[in-house]
Amino acid sequence: MRGGHALEDAPPRLPRTVVDGDREVAETAAVLFADVVGSTALRTRLGEDAADALVEVQEQLLTRAVRASDGTVVKLTGDGLLATFPAAASAVGAGVEVQQVVHAHGLAEPERAFAVRVGVSSGDVQRRDGDVHGITVVEAARLCDAAEAGQVLVADVVRLLARDRGGHPFRPLGERVLKGLPAPLAVSEVVWEPDGRLHPAGVRGGAGDAPGWPAGAAPSGVLPPGSLLGRDDDVARLRDRCTTSRLVTLLGAGGAGKTSLAAAVAPSVAGELGVQPVWVDLQPVDDPERVVPTLADALAANPPPAADDPPAALAAELTAREVLLVLDNCEQVIGAVADVLDALVVACPGVRVLTTSRETDRPT
Ligand SMILES: Nc1ncnc2c1ncn2[C@@H]1O[C@H](COP(=O)(O)OP(=O)(O)O)[C@@H](O)[C@H]1O
Ligand SMILES: [Mg+2]
Repeated sequence: MRGGHALEDAPPRLPRTVVDGDREVAETAAVLFADVVGSTALRTRLGEDAADALVEVQEQLLTRAVRASDGTVVKLTGDGLLATFPAAASAVGAGVEVQQVVHAHGLAEPERAFAVRVGVSSGDVQRRDGDVHGITVVEAARLCDAAEAGQVLVADVVRLLARDRGGHPFRPLGERVLKGLPAPLAVSEVVWEPDGRLHPAGVRGGAGDAPGWPAGAAPSGVLPPGSLLGRDDDVARLRDRCTTSRLVTLLGAGGAGKTSLAAAVAPSVAGELGVQPVWVDLQPVDDPERVVPTLADALAANPPPAADDPPAALAAELTAREVLLVLDNCEQVIGAVADVLDALVVACPGVRVLTTSRETDRPT
């Protein structure tokens, strides 16, 4: 055990970092700033309400892009975000993902198109009270300020750390004098291409996630990204149906590919509509009375437990929600599902539903 004497004698230059229990921890991280270009002008053009709605979409797109690359959103800034990543290559990947989803959003919704600039640096940061501090953060912010609309600017250290792991080439831009930094910073631009997505939802999932599902929300056991074969026409048709109708049903024999198709299409449709995709597998639910509680759980809704009319009570909780609800395997509780959908379709204008159900010889 250390004596008080030794502690008193210790010079006060113990690093203020890596101090357990002092809420301040230093670590090496990649830091990314993303910023919507011209958000004030966008607000003037769209009006307050539409601009507020767009901010939500922006936050969702940027947040998903960050999380899909193992990033942590440190804070939302109102017209952008600050995020940290354990690896430089992940931050570069997120920067490109941000640009790609924003580009895809612009194609899907030209009247609400917007542009983003991104800056990334890497080095030591201090985490304190839920925020991050340090020169690395300042560098990322200044790089973001210096970036053009659609550009991802990175400190050269990021290029060196990431090398070609992200698969995105860098274009060195030489040294730049950036406001507030003590010395010029060597800067590179990440060269990115639109990825041909027709929709902004595509989030690269982790292992087991279907393409486009936010982490943790993916249906399990579905085909991995890109492996839905020979279904291009069906995908296009289903996507079209789901964007024009609020209730779509995929009916077919077991093994026909309903689950795979729904899992592949739902996130892109949800992204296009700017709503959250929510997947509910009803296969394990064989009691019709469990349908409402199961949906309430999945949607984090809290209807009164002993309501006279559970479907109406659930719908009353969801009137302001914007979701694409996928109900897979409705066959065994189809009657109860129909009751809920009747209530949702009437009471919840922002709720859209895609169901899959097995075709049976006789109604169940
Ligand atoms: N287009 C496809 N390309 C390749 N495999 C597919 C395709 N559609 C379905 N499958 C595979 O066929 C099996 C049955 O598909 P699934 O979507 O579960 O059918 P359903 O939900 O209609 O019972 C699964 O193993 C799935 O991975
Ligand atoms: Mg299925």
